[in-house]
Parts: sequence; structure tokens; C-alpha cells
Amino acid sequence: MKIQKTKKYFYLIFSILIYSCAPNPSTDEINLNADKISWSQNIGPIIFKNCTPCHRPGESGPFNLLSYYDAVKKARLIKFVTQTNYMPPWPADASYTHFIGETVLTKTEKEQIKIWVENNCPRGDSLLEPKTPIYYIGSYFGKPDLVIRAQKSYSIKGNGTDAFLIMKFPYQIEKDTIIDFVEFVPNQRKLIHHVNGHLISYDNNRKFNYLSGESIHEDTKAQLLDVYSQMHIPYTDKLQPQFPTLTPNVVYYLPGYIPPSYPKEIGGYKFKKNGAFLLNNIHYGPSNTGLSDSSYINVFYRKSPIKRPVIEKQLGTFGISKIEPEFIIPPNQVKTFRTQTTLSQPISLLSVNPHMHLIGKTFWAFAIKQNGDTIPLIKINKWDFRWQYYYTYKHPVKLDKGTTIFVYGTFDNTNKNSNNPFSPPQTITQGNGVESMKTTEEMFQFIFTYVPYKEGDELINLER
Ligand code: HEC
Repeated sequence: MKIQKTKKYFYLIFSILIYSCAPNPSTDEINLNADKISWSQNIGPIIFKNCTPCHRPGESGPFNLLSYYDAVKKARLIKFVTQTNYMPPWPADASYTHFIGETVLTKTEKEQIKIWVENNCPRGDSLLEPKTPIYYIGSYFGKPDLVIRAQKSYSIKGNGTDAFLIMKFPYQIEKDTIIDFVEFVPNQRKLIHHVNGHLISYDNNRKFNYLSGESIHEDTKAQLLDVYSQMHIPYTDKLQPQFPTLTPNVVYYLPGYIPPSYPKEIGGYKFKKNGAFLLNNIHYGPSNTGLSDSSYINVFYRKSPIKRPVIEKQLGTFGISKIEPEFIIPPNQVKTFRTQTTLSQPISLLSVNPHMHLIGKTFWAFAIKQNGDTIPLIKINKWDFRWQYYYTYKHPVKLDKGTTIFVYGTFDNTNKNSNNPFSPPQTITQGNGVESMKTTEEMFQFIFTYVPYKEGDELINLER
């Protein structure tokens, strides 16, 4: 008894001593026990949660981060990219609005990585090590219900110029069904700049031969109707209508893009037994070496019927609202443009996708209600062409009838902008037609998806 008491007393004094020796912890100072930071306890879980979804085979990250050894090999770079907030990539200002899948490391996590690297990457107790996550290779999401491959691969010419193509990805399945979302998986990730595609659906009672015909068309100046006939898109029975049903923008891809999927009462597309994805615009950036591309499309089915189909609109370039002032960016200038629209119906906003090209600098969208209240939508303080997410809100954002959406984009056409494609700077515009999608032309677009508002939408959890 007596001994025990003395022991307790001793420990008490001892801990007071230790405590008084330690620096006075202020509230915002991070109190980290450097010796205890290890892969198994701290760093492994951070990497597996925030990095491995991309840094694994088949995904966009240029090397794997699937094990302790993978991380040790890249330790100094990992410290650098996390300290500078370059990785994980999340261009949206997380102090302005939050979205699903937000990958932003906390101050503590960044500090832990730094200390761990400086301490020569201790592994810690191997029994406590986190399990390497198991992924399906070939999709960001898991095993798709259907994979549609192109009929032939595309040979990218090594002539240093952009290429714009139209590609057909036909399919045939056993019976009509419903899809949740589709995922375009680029093969030459570094070269594919964007993809926009429609879903074509054939009436089973009509005649068609879409499985034959041209599947890749390179001349984007050709008449679309001619291209479609060469691709055997029209019905062959001479009845009206001549063309099958087309659902626009079902396939979409930009660097860093991950397709949104919504809870079961929202979204979905009819998927007929006979059909094709028609990528009416697939853009390859310039390459100096000849390469072969065999990208594919993953399709994910859904079991629930379609109740509230998602509608997509775009403001700015090619969109429903005009850009002011006129979209011309003179050399050696930093210039801000605006576009806006007023809603004629109340909507539940689901996702937003800001789009600019190389000289984009900042992007900001917000809405103002008729009573003057402001609703923040998205702010990007440092635009990066490489990360053009489709940002999905955690809950639908209700925008009343009469609310105006304002979008501001600033472009830096000076030689201080290291992404400027021209040196010395030149006048940059949006070009015309498909040419405007060239990386060296600019675009200022705000794409958003919504469903007409219904009572209680604000409470729906959009997280998958
Ligand atoms: C959304 C996908 C994605 C996520 C998430 C991601 N990365 Fe990356 N990472 C990439 C891509 C793509 C590149 C190559 C392109 C580039 O450098 O911009 C890259 C490049 C890097 C590089 C090399 C940079 C260089 O200059 O060579 C490092 C190091 C890195 N990532 C570490 C990380 C770490 C650490 C995390 C998590 C904390 C992470 N990444 C999360 C996609 C991702």
C-alpha cells in the first residue's frame, strides 16, 4: 500500500516536471510527438485515404503509393508536394464551399508528413500497419457492369499538333436497362484534353447497321450529317425519323474529372439494347511522338427507375449567357470577364464545373437571391488546367426563381504566367467552332447540373 502511494506521487511530480519543460502549447500550435510518427500509425492511413485513389496502376498518378516502400522512395517529393498544397489536387477554395470528395490535408496531417520524412520515415509497429486498399484496376469506382471498347485504336500522330475527332463506341446488350453513370477511361492520359459524348439509342423495332461503318472520323470541318452517315448512325429502313434518339452529354471527361453519381431518386439514363456512344468531340493535345490510344467507356447500371433526370446547362462560351466584356484577352493584360443568368424556376443545384484553358487564373461563382442574400457556389483562387473537377455539393443547393448566378473569370495573358502558351504573349480569343477547343484558345464556361426544386431537397445527402 505504502509503496504504491509513493509511486503515484513520484509519477505525479515527474509528469509535472516534464510538462513544465515542454514549450507552452498555444491553441493553434500543433502538438506533435515527433518520435511517435510512423507509417503504420499515421502516414499510411493519410496516404491510403488521400493519394492511393490516383497513385495506383491504371489511374492518373505517375507512380504508385500502395506500400510503405513506395512512399519511402518518394518521401522527399511527398513532403514537398504536400507542404506546397500541390497534392492532393483540390483547386476549389475549401473555406468558401464544400463538396463531396474534398481532398484537402489538415494542418496536422501536413505537419506529420513533414516530420516523418525528416525523421527518415520510421515504419513503426508492422502489426498495426494499415491494409493496402484493394482497388479494381481499370476504373476509379470498381467493377463496371459493361465495358465498351472502341472498334479500333486511334494512332496519334507525332506531328506536334492538336487533333479533334469524332468517335463511335457501339454496343449491343441483351435487354433495355437503365444506367447510373458512365466513366470514360483515357488510355493516353497525358494527351486527352477533353471528351464530350452523347448516347444514341435505337428503337428495337426499326432497322439499323450502326455496328458497321466508320468508327473514327478525323476531319472535324466535315458536315456532321455526312460523318454520321459514314458512321452508319441513321436508321436504314427509310422511315421517319431518320435518326435515332440522342441523349446529350452522357459521357464527359477533362483532366482530373470524376463523373458524379447521385442518390437513386436523382439522375439515370435509359439504356437501350442497341446503341452507341458518339463522342462528338475528343481532343488530343499535341504529341511529338506517334502513339496508339485505346481508351474505353465503363458503364454502371442502376436498379431503380428514373424519377428525376438531371439537367445540364452552361454559361459563357457556347452557353446560354453572354460573356461581358467581349471575350478577347489582349497580350500583356490580366483581364476579368463576367457572365450571368437569372433563374426562371426554382432549382436544386447538384454539381458545378468551372472550365477555362491555360491562361485562366481565378474563377468565382455565386448567386444572389432577390432579397439580396448571397449564396456562395465555388471559388478557385489558383486555376489549374490539369484539375477540372465536376464539383458535387454535399446537399442540393436551393436556388429560388429570380435568383441570379454570377460568374467571374480572370485570365492572365502576361509573360509572368508560366502557362502562357505564347511567348511573347498574343491576343487570345475563343476562336470559332471546334477550333475554340484548342488548348491555346481560351474558354470561359460554367457548367452546372440540377433538378427542378422539390420540397425537402436541401436535406438529400448526395454522397454516394
Ligand atoms: C486526383 C488524383 C491524384 C491524387 C488524389 C493525388 N495525386 Fe499526386 N499526382 C497526380 C497526377 C496526375 C500527377 C502527375 C501530374 C502532375 O505532376 O501534375 C501527380 C504527381 C504527384 C507527384 C510528383 C510531382 C512531381 O513534380 O514530380 C507527387 C510526389 C505526388 N503526386 C504525390 C501525391 C501525394 C502525396 C498525394 C496524397 C497526399 C497525391 N499525390 C494525391 C494525381 C493525384
